[in-house]
Amino acid sequence: MAARPGRSGKRLRLPRRQRSQALAEERTPGLYLRISVTDRCNLRCVYCLPEDARFASSRAGDDELMALARWVALAAGVRKIRLTGGEPTLNPRLADHVRHAKTLAPIVGLTTNGVLLGPLLPELRDAGLNRLNISLDALDGDSFRRFARRDGLDRVVAAIRSARRLGFDPVKVNAVAMDGTDYAGLVRFAAWEGVHLRFIELMAIGEARAFQADAYVSAEAMRLRIAAAGIALRERTDRDEPTSRVWSIDGHDPATCSVGFITTVSQPFCATCDRLRLSSQGKLFTCLMDNAGNDLLELLRSGDHDGLVARVRRAVANKAPPAEFVRHEVMASIGG
Ligand code: 5AD
Ligand code: SF4
Repeated sequence: MAARPGRSGKRLRLPRRQRSQALAEERTPGLYLRISVTDRCNLRCVYCLPEDARFASSRAGDDELMALARWVALAAGVRKIRLTGGEPTLNPRLADHVRHAKTLAPIVGLTTNGVLLGPLLPELRDAGLNRLNISLDALDGDSFRRFARRDGLDRVVAAIRSARRLGFDPVKVNAVAMDGTDYAGLVRFAAWEGVHLRFIELMAIGEARAFQADAYVSAEAMRLRIAAAGIALRERTDRDEPTSRVWSIDGHDPATCSVGFITTVSQPFCATCDRLRLSSQGKLFTCLMDNAGNDLLELLRSGDHDGLVARVRRAVANKAPPAEFVRHEVMASIGG
């Protein structure tokens, strides 16, 4: 696997000083808040949504969601915010959410399926977005359609390339790991495009509850498949992230591309998890497997700000690993 000739020289990169600032920000205290800015989606990934998905008829308004994010930040302290969905690019006020989130936390990220992302990238960058995760499960049109039940591969790949050109660094590409996944192909893609690939172990959530046991591939098994294709990965314990073990691809600069494994199933990271999730209905969840959540919207609408702060603080104080690894609602309602 050869590095793509002459590409790295053309890339816009953060100067070294800004890069070390970004690392310092990762270490600032506070929780990591994920905000779902819509539960709707333009894809129907087989592990997430049914073909005839029904979405909630009402959701918190955008200004209400921003106000709730502010109250959560005030009550609990937030160092990082990630905007998710459903598919967040379906929210016409996404750039406003980025700008608002930047007033609350130094790091603001976006997780998107990438289909509608390309044309939005310049505005999102100017709004201050500094982390980008684009989902990509397959590299050919037929497989993409089989996983996502919709078209869009070309637009996703074009968005990944635009993001690199616009200077987003790192660009992370998330692939949900299933039996039919082209592991070696995705690793080659990451090396070629200069992006950081993260394989996510399939969880028994949403639509995947029906087939997770059959389609699940552990991180260990993924590495065996990648090695069998003749690609050498090297573990980089120095670059581990809170939720994934990071490996470099032999012959490639780990600053340019890497492969990580989010081992939610084989090695849960509950003990060190500091994530909170605010749903598009205005509920705060302290765990993906929290099936009830804490309604904050009713308190905001009734003007009970003391009650709101108290509810956030109580939820955070009671945050604990789940008794059972089951989520009854689909992932899109809470944003992955
Ligand atoms: N298992 C693992 N990851 C999932 N996602 C959605 N459903 C599942 C599941 N059952 C991922 C998406 C996306 C993020 C929002 O959540 O692929 O990367
Ligand atoms: Fe949409 Fe993401 Fe669910 Fe796929 S995984 S259907 S892109 S919310």
